[in-house]
Amino acid sequence: MLDNVTWPSTDYSRVPYVVFGDQAIYNREQERIFQGSSWCYLGLEAEIPNPGDFKTSFVGNTSVVVNRSANGAVYAFENRCAHRGSTVVRELSGNRENYTCIYHHWCYDHEGNLIGVPFQRGLKGKGGMPREFDKCEHSLKKLRVETYRGVIFGTFDHDIMPLADYLGPRIRDILDTIFQKPIEVLGYMRQRMPSNWKLYWENATDCYHAGLLHQFGTTFGLFRATQEGGSFLGACPGHSVCYSIFGSDEGSVSEGYEGIEAYNAEMKLNDASLLQYRDEDSDQRGLIIMATFPSVIFQRIANTLATRQIRTKSPNEFELYWTYFGYADDDEELRRMRLTQTNLVGPAGLISMEDGEAGVLIQRAIERERHASSVMEMGGKGPIGDQDHLVSEMSVRGFWKHYCDVMGYVPGSSS
Ligand code: FES
Ligand SMILES: [Fe+2]
Repeated sequence: MLDNVTWPSTDYSRVPYVVFGDQAIYNREQERIFQGSSWCYLGLEAEIPNPGDFKTSFVGNTSVVVNRSANGAVYAFENRCAHRGSTVVRELSGNRENYTCIYHHWCYDHEGNLIGVPFQRGLKGKGGMPREFDKCEHSLKKLRVETYRGVIFGTFDHDIMPLADYLGPRIRDILDTIFQKPIEVLGYMRQRMPSNWKLYWENATDCYHAGLLHQFGTTFGLFRATQEGGSFLGACPGHSVCYSIFGSDEGSVSEGYEGIEAYNAEMKLNDASLLQYRDEDSDQRGLIIMATFPSVIFQRIANTLATRQIRTKSPNEFELYWTYFGYADDDEELRRMRLTQTNLVGPAGLISMEDGEAGVLIQRAIERERHASSVMEMGGKGPIGDQDHLVSEMSVRGFWKHYCDVMGYVPGSSS
């Protein structure tokens, strides 16, 4: 199957459904994307502020530990014992001076170096490891780690370009905005999606759906295709940003949405406090969704700030891991607004629960149609670039272009 992926069009306006359900393709993604030359989101420095703090995370489907050492530096390593392969750290987070595997008690430091092997010299002159056994040769598999604005990224490719170059100026600019001040993590949500991870990536980079699928957001102005906004690509087309300006479409909504059910002028909230919003940015971008290839989406929607990490599980399943945060200096009212608005997003969010369902609807329907393809021409065919409006699928095509480059799939041919 792997060798028969036919990418139907050279402008990535068609995506063969086979890529959403094939085990061999999934395996190739783990090798080329997640274990390959990508900087993957691991977490936030604010989650591990003190020496010895750790949290477990994922790169694709590989469990990793990210932690802060005694000297304050952040390290990460694969969560798989160098002895016989056991999971070393089973907690989600905590504080440790070192890590002891439960099976035979091999012990590792914060960098993942092996520092202790019980009975290494045997007992009473018997047993033990061979004399030449060198602990230095049996550390945990280490990731290279870099941070930007307190966001921790890791990679298994120790020769990859620096993180700042991988992100590029436009992505860094959004991170400068979202992480403009010290943050405080407010909580987490996790959801298991019975669909392929790339269907969520398509969803997150697709401006077009948001003003149609999400009736709540469209009706109450959290995102409408009639608003001013647009999308642009990062240093590679695998990174993209969608943004919109709240309130910028007054007077044009009814006309734009005439005959479209997503906008319901009759609908009113009994309690409008959910829609209370404080503009935190001089350019009034009420919504910013930034997808950073291959595993994280950053969002600011109204006053909700969050990262969404994709953790792949199989060709047909992934986990979406939401981390919500605010700024350490939030006043009480702003903090309350952030927490209230958390109801807008997440697994049951009023403007995001449909996203998970959309992926499932696709996954089910394409199961027996692996030879068929999707159609993406909204916003135009041909070259992939920035858009100054919201009726576009351009960034989705950007994702697929980068995906094919990394996977070695040549559009318009059998690869
Ligand atoms: S598997 Fe970890 S110490 Fe043996
Ligand atoms: Fe959505």
